Amino acid sequence: MSLKEQHLDTIIQEMVDTVKNSKDEVFHIAEESRKEYENLKNELEILKEKVIITIEESDELERQSKLARNRLSVVSKNFKIYSEDVIREAYDHAHKVQSEYVVKQDKERQLRERRDEIELRLKSIEALVERAEGLMGKISIVLNYLNDDFKAMTNLIQDAQEKQAFGLQIIEAQEEERRRLSREMHDGPAQMLANILIRSEFVQRTYQKGDTDAAMNELRNVRALVRTSLQEVRRIIYDLRPMALDDLGLIPTIKKYIATLEEQHDNIHFNYRSQDDRLPSKYEVALFRLIQESIQNAIKHANAKRIDVKLEVTRDSVNALIKDDGIGFDRTQKKDKSFGLIGMGERIEMLDGELTIDSEKNKGTKVWIKIPIN
Ligand SMILES: Nc1ncnc2c1ncn2[C@@H]1O[C@H](COP(=O)(O)OP(=O)(O)O)[C@@H](O)[C@H]1O
Ligand SMILES: [Mg+2]
Repeated sequence: MSLKEQHLDTIIQEMVDTVKNSKDEVFHIAEESRKEYENLKNELEILKEKVIITIEESDELERQSKLARNRLSVVSKNFKIYSEDVIREAYDHAHKVQSEYVVKQDKERQLRERRDEIELRLKSIEALVERAEGLMGKISIVLNYLNDDFKAMTNLIQDAQEKQAFGLQIIEAQEEERRRLSREMHDGPAQMLANILIRSEFVQRTYQKGDTDAAMNELRNVRALVRTSLQEVRRIIYDLRPMALDDLGLIPTIKKYIATLEEQHDNIHFNYRSQDDRLPSKYEVALFRLIQESIQNAIKHANAKRIDVKLEVTRDSVNALIKDDGIGFDRTQKKDKSFGLIGMGERIEMLDGELTIDSEKNKGTKVWIKIPIN
């Protein structure tokens, strides 16, 4: 993971955490509101009962108050019959009942008001809980989005960055290849040609001096030089793109190629089975490059005693195995400037094929290549 991706990952993680916290908070609010709702509901039930009782009591007091007032009016109209004490008593009683009635009415009003208040509050809490639940649903969606889609996006970005880096590496590798080629041309054929020029002048001069034997001798040297140069040029051309591949096809080219490797490794064995049809050029080029890279790896890195190349071409697929008995390697350890295996993977992917590498430390390496032909 690059620094950029790590940064992006931290940002996303922070967002996820923040959103999670908000969700918890909203959940907390909803829970608290639900508790308050329950409490208020209980209070409301009790209040409603109280209201009913108070109304009954108040009705009763009203009735008693009426009776008391009637009694008062009777006794006070007939003040000749009733003693002053009786009248006062009736008056006091009427007054007392009336006061109680007023107080009760007041209480009833208060209770009603409180009841209406609680009913309103309950409605608003209900709305609040509903909104909190809606919000939690939305937050969950955001969380999923952050967790899945955003993670997928980081992966995409990572992928794109890798591809980009790989593209740059390929360009660098191409540049490196050109540098190598120009050095080879400079050190090999170019120098030999310069040498040949000087020597042929020498031949001319010796010949003009009449020393035919010396001239003939030098001419032989020149011819040997020309031959080596020719070989060298052919080898370089061959490395660039074996012409045999276009002219003769895959199997003869591999045979020739292995023959040219004799100096580098003298125990390479090639086995093949094939209908002798030619394959479409893209398959021949790809397979040759894949096998070439695998053999080069075995020569360069494996320190192998023996290298085996097996090829089977059928009507609908090509299978190749390049096997060595060398030191093996750990594929999980990626090397920085190594594009051979990466390039092989890309080539095979383009042809919908499969690449399997079996390698263990000190147990040799097997590279399996399977490419379907359509
Ligand atoms: N046949 C093999 N035996 C041992 N090591 C190998 C073999 N093939 C590949 N490797 C290891 O894997 C690395 C990567 O190989 P490759 O991608 O072809 O890059 P390069 O050949 O340029 O180093 C090599 O540097 C080497 O350490
Ligand atoms: Mg390599």
